[in-house]
Amino acid sequence: MRRKIAAGNWKMNMTPAEAEALITGLKPEVEGAGSEVICCVPAIDIERALKAAEGSNIQIGAQNMFYEAKGAYTGEISGEMLLSVGVSHVIIGHSERRGIFGETDEDINKKLKKAISLGLTPIVCCGESLEQREKGITEEWVRMQVKEALIGVSAEDVKRIIIAYEPIWAIGTGKTATTSEAEEVCGLIRECIAALYDQETADEIRILYGGSVNEKNAAELFAMPDIDGGLVGGASLKLSFAEIVKAADKIS
Ligand code: PGA
Repeated sequence: MRRKIAAGNWKMNMTPAEAEALITGLKPEVEGAGSEVICCVPAIDIERALKAAEGSNIQIGAQNMFYEAKGAYTGEISGEMLLSVGVSHVIIGHSERRGIFGETDEDINKKLKKAISLGLTPIVCCGESLEQREKGITEEWVRMQVKEALIGVSAEDVKRIIIAYEPIWAIGTGKTATTSEAEEVCGLIRECIAALYDQETADEIRILYGGSVNEKNAAELFAMPDIDGGLVGGASLKLSFAEIVKAADKIS
C-alpha cells in the first residue's frame, strides 16, 4: 500500500517569521496524520521551518538545488547544503523552473541523480501546457519528460522518488484537471515506469497530482487509484492546508 503524501510548494512566499508561524500552527492540526506531510519552503526559510517543525511529523523540503557540490555558481544552493541542515525532500523540475528559468530535461536529470546520490527524496515534476493538451500530445510529452528525467536511474532508486504530475494550465489558475483527467495521466506515468522498469517498481512509486488542489477537491482527487496525494501551491500557504492533509489521511 502506497502511503499518501500532502506536499506544499510555498514557491516564493513567506518570510522566515511567517514560515515559523505557519509551521507552528500546522503542527497540532496534522499531528498523527497517516499521510506524509511535507512543506517545501524557500531556501531562506529552511532553518527556521526545520526548527519550528522539530518533534512533529512535518518534513521540510526545498524547491530546487544545483547538481554541483560547491563552487562558482552564484545564486545556487547545492544538495549537500540542503542535507547539512536536515532537509529531506527537494522539488526538481517544477514547470516554473523549466519555463521561467530555462531548466532543461538534462539539467533535471542531473539534479535528480545528484539528489538520489545524497539520499534526498526528489519530487520531480512533469506536465503539459494548454497548447500541448489541445494538440493532443499530452501523453507523448509527459512520457518524454519522465523518460528523460530518469535516464541512468536504477529501479531501486526510482522507487524512492516521488513524481508530481502538474498540468501547467492548472497551476495557480483555479482550473483543476478533472479527477479523470488527472487520473488518466498519473496512470500513464505509472505505465511508463512499468515499461521502463517493471510492474513492482511501478506499483511502489508515488505519483502526485498538482494544479489548483484545495481543501474542496483534494479528497476526490486523492481517492483515484493512481493518485497518491498532491503537490499543493497556493492552498499550502494557509492553515487550511491541514484539511488537505486530512483528505490524504482519510484515504491512506
Ligand atoms: P497551485 O500550484 O496549487 O497554486 O496551482 C501547484 C504547484 O505549482 O506546485
